[in-house]
Amino acid sequence: MTSVTMTVNGKKMSGEVEGRTLLVQFLRDTQGLTGTHVGCDTSQCGACVVHVDGLAVKACTMLAQEAEGAQVTTIEGMANADGSLSVIQQAFQDHHGLQCGFCTPGMVMSAADLLKTNADPSETEIREYLEGNICRCTGYHNIVKSIQAAAASLRG
Ligand code: FES
Ligand code: FES
Repeated sequence: MTSVTMTVNGKKMSGEVEGRTLLVQFLRDTQGLTGTHVGCDTSQCGACVVHVDGLAVKACTMLAQEAEGAQVTTIEGMANADGSLSVIQQAFQDHHGLQCGFCTPGMVMSAADLLKTNADPSETEIREYLEGNICRCTGYHNIVKSIQAAAASLRG
């Protein structure tokens, strides 16, 4: 076991990990941040997307040790400082972008990453960007609508 330390949602977090411990296991099992989900064992579903040093990453494809010293943001870090939902989270609620909600943390984290670099994505661009995020419930239509609404709100 070795010790790993990273900044998660603005707070320093440390834990003991094995060489094979994945970032998603570190976040969920040692830090209790269970909003980051595991939906597959093939790195296909995107339920585990977090941001590492500002980039969207599937937390099941990265070892915890590789995130040593990194700035990590999980879905728990996406709410506003007063605890209210962020613009993207609110848009998913308002536009029925979730049903069971299992994929939603990863969808929100991917959407946030997309909107950082593309403030006004087309429907096609959103659908292409979400190729790595699988939703088993919604048929994607309302997810796309939610992201378009969030983009419009963020543009003001
Ligand atoms: S759990 Fe990471 S892609 Fe499915
Ligand atoms: S809302 Fe159920 S998997 Fe996406």
